[in-house]
Formats: sequence, C-alpha cells, structure tokens
Amino acid sequence: MLYSNVDLVTFEFKKPRCEVVVAKKVKRNSPCPCGSGLKYKKCCLDETRSVDQRLKEIYAKNFSIRLKEKADIKAIKRAGQLVVRTLDLVETKIRPGLTTDEINTIVHDFTIKRGAIPAPLNYRGFPKSVCVSVNEVICHGIPGERVLQDGDIVNVDVTTILNGYYADANKTYFVGTPIPKAEKIVRVARESLKLSLAVVKPGNTVGHIGWAIQQYAEGEGCSVVEEFTGHGIGFDFHEPPQVPHFGRKGEGITLVPGMVFTIEPMINLGKKELRILDDNWTAVTRDGSLSAQFEQTVVVTDSGYESLTPYEL
Ligand code: MF3
Ligand code: CO
Ligand code: CO
Repeated sequence: MLYSNVDLVTFEFKKPRCEVVVAKKVKRNSPCPCGSGLKYKKCCLDETRSVDQRLKEIYAKNFSIRLKEKADIKAIKRAGQLVVRTLDLVETKIRPGLTTDEINTIVHDFTIKRGAIPAPLNYRGFPKSVCVSVNEVICHGIPGERVLQDGDIVNVDVTTILNGYYADANKTYFVGTPIPKAEKIVRVARESLKLSLAVVKPGNTVGHIGWAIQQYAEGEGCSVVEEFTGHGIGFDFHEPPQVPHFGRKGEGITLVPGMVFTIEPMINLGKKELRILDDNWTAVTRDGSLSAQFEQTVVVTDSGYESLTPYEL
C-alpha cells in the first residue's frame, strides 16, 4: 500500500499529468485514485491545479506530511538562524570545568532574550531547555551537575520556537584537547551528516539518506543508532516522516520540494545498542563507547536542498 502510493507520487512529481491515473480510465466524478479524497476531475484530471497544490494534498492525505510553503520556509529559516547563533554562542563557552547545567542556562537565557522559546523545556516532561550529551551519552542528556573534563566530547542539541515555527540543530564539541578516539567519532558523525545532505533532492527517498549514512559509518568501523531518527519539523517539534539513519536507496517516502525535516545521525564508536537511564531520557551506549551526533534542519528544493540551520561541516 505504502509503496504503491510512493510510486504514484513519484510519477506525479516527475510528470504534472498523472499518467498512472489516466491509465486506469477513472470516471470524472469518482474519487481520485491518488487518495486525495477529491473527485478525479477536481484533482489529478484538473490541469489547472499546480503540481505543488496536488503534491501538498497527496502528502497530507497519504503520509500526514505537511509540505511547507515559501512563507513557512522563511519563518523556519529565521528560527534556524537563531538556533545556529545559539550553537555559536555555546561553542565560545565550552571548556573544562563548565557544567552541563551552565550550558542549559546559556541556551535558555539567550533564547528567551531573543523572544523565542526553548522547545525541549517541558516537552513530554523533559525538564530542561536543551539536550547536553557527554561522551557515551548518545542523546537526550539532561543538563545537571556533570562537569566537563579535558578530552570529553559534548553534544549540544538546540531546538527553538520562533513565532510558532520550530528549527532543530546540534553539534558535537571537543572539550579542551581531544583524544584520538574522540577525533575519530566526531569526524565520522560530521561526515555522515555531510554525505547524507548530498543525496537530498526530489525523487530520492528517505532510504537514500539512511543508506548514505550507514554505508559510510559502518565502512569506518562505527555503528549507527537505530532507535532515534531524523524527523519532519516546522509546525511542530516532531512531525512525519521519520528519517532513519540506516536503510537502502529507494526505500520509504519520496522526497519532494517543500518537505522540511532533520537529519541527525548518532554514530557510536563501538556497538549500536543503547540503554535508557532511570531518568527515562538519557540514552547511553550499552558498551560504554563514545557516541557523536550532528544535526541540521533542511528543506527539499526543486533541485536539491537548502539547510535552514546552516553551518560548515
Ligand atoms: N532535539 C532532539 C531531536 O533532535 C529532541 C529532543 S526531545 C527533548 O529530535 F525532549 F529531549 F528535548
Ligand atoms: Co535536535
Ligand atoms: Co531533531
């Protein structure tokens, strides 16, 4: 079911006239086979409606994916600029001796001062304004009394709501002088995101993204966390679709212009398995190995993608 819909949508995107539908000789007044819920004559038969309009309906109806319009993208980009400025500010403060709670204060105060809201605060009971994940912590680390030590790696994951729009990005930083293992895992995680961004374009699928990450990271002898995925974003923190960081080319939802989602590979130096601590949030590697992550929010464009939380990889 899902896959035939994907085929239809891919076809629809590549050719404004929906030949799949035409081939079935559907009656003008019967429901459109694309699943939009409209009459065929008001949907795929109607050449006056733009491809954009039809895609928007098909994605909403079939996948609950809300494609974004120009004005939405502009607003998410503003939120994204604030996220990047927040990460830049954090970067200037990272040093041995800093506590993870001090990072929380930096992020919280800066966000509020700019008239925005830190999305993690009280999100499904999360008690702080940012996720701070040190060394073997994969993600969702809760800021607290932990003191950063020389040689640590620390991921800071910032999600900001500005004028009702969400943007989400993270980076992994070195604390003081990195040890070789830390250099490796941070390099592989950064490169994983970079390589996956390169396959973001209309007609490719979320499977291309997962494939790009998995084949590279595993080729480097690292592993990919499977329990957490990238996600649609913009109107809400986590929207459909899920964007797994593993998979095969051509699998899953087809990328189309106006899709906004995150890619956020979590890469472990050892095995992929994780464990959740008693706080019900903190995800750590089961084998205690280092884990690193980079995340950006992107929009699919007519020819590829644009990062809405752009920073150099
Ligand atoms: N920012 C994380 C992500 O990339 C989600 C954090 S959920 C929270 O999806 F509640 F822990 F903040
Ligand atoms: Co995030
Ligand atoms: Co995210």
